[in-house]
Amino acid sequence: MAEIGRDIAKAKAYLEIGNLVGIPTETVYGLAGNALDPDAVAKIFSVKNRPSFDPLILHTSDMSRIAQFVKEIPGPLQRLAKRFWPGPLTLLLPKKDIVPDLVTSGLDTVAVRIPDHPLTKELLGALDFPLAAPSANPFGYISPTQASHVNDQLGTKIPYILDGGSCQVGLESTIVGMEGDKVTVYRLGGLDISKIESEVGKVQVVAHSSSNPKSPGMLKSHYSPSKPFIIADLDLLISEYSSKGESFAVLSFRRCFPQVSEHLQIQLSKAGDLAEAAKNLFAAMRTLDSRDVSLILSELMPEVGLGKAINDRLKRAAVPEEEKE
Ligand code: TXA
Ligand code: MG
Repeated sequence: MAEIGRDIAKAKAYLEIGNLVGIPTETVYGLAGNALDPDAVAKIFSVKNRPSFDPLILHTSDMSRIAQFVKEIPGPLQRLAKRFWPGPLTLLLPKKDIVPDLVTSGLDTVAVRIPDHPLTKELLGALDFPLAAPSANPFGYISPTQASHVNDQLGTKIPYILDGGSCQVGLESTIVGMEGDKVTVYRLGGLDISKIESEVGKVQVVAHSSSNPKSPGMLKSHYSPSKPFIIADLDLLISEYSSKGESFAVLSFRRCFPQVSEHLQIQLSKAGDLAEAAKNLFAAMRTLDSRDVSLILSELMPEVGLGKAINDRLKRAAVPEEEKE
């Protein structure tokens, strides 16, 4: 398994010789490698078992470094960068040649983000190259929000995981770009759209799927547990599957279900706080996926604020195996 620790110099040394390292961010853990080294980038795709048409996000430590990688930052995106970086925001920007085509899957834009986590900020500041880092999960599975999640799934394939504790946001970054002169959101995420709109006015949200050429990697199958995941009204689901004699676990927003044993149910936020629910979501899905049951029953969150991004992940997890793209 990988070594887990808080040694930034060690993480740096591995990255400098072309190895991959698990890194904490405020959203989810990343599987990081030197973004300017095509061999390291190729390793990322192979360790994750990720198709090469699904581009990666380039992570850097401050705005002054970004000019090396992108031709320009359109005005509205500059405003978002100034307001929300470091933070759970990724911008799609026209790339310079220095960024290998493998990082962007041949697209002429590169996804860039300045993450907000003290260890990773320090690591990025100490490196003289940016890090390409997808979420550190095997392609299609639930994103990791703790170092142990990374170790459980990729530990045999990487030497080191920088342990930054539990991710504070718990959902991947919100991805934003320009379509003509329209600010466009391509992936709902940890930065709530209403915050983006408070800075740049109304934005358009483009539903992401593999048929959307702007976001080729945003497949339906992302975020799936290995067990069937069913979303509807929980009272109905619980009585239906109980009467069928099925074994199941329950993932709810805030309600407790006395008829279900305690270790087979998780409330994402008993207080009804969507930020807390987001932070707990992926770990809860993993925990229930590991229980000895045949399916997971869940419900949608209120469709407001971060609830929209959580619902997006829940709906993707619920896409039946045979319909996955
Ligand atoms: O919060 C996050 O964004 C995390 C942490 C580690 O930073 N990273 C993450 O990376 O979620 P990943 O690879 O799991 O998701 C990146 C998404 C993919 O769906 C990919 O298709 C999209 O970003 N993407 C990357 N570059 C793109 C580009 N040039 N145009 C459109 N979509 C792009
Ligand atoms: Mg991912």
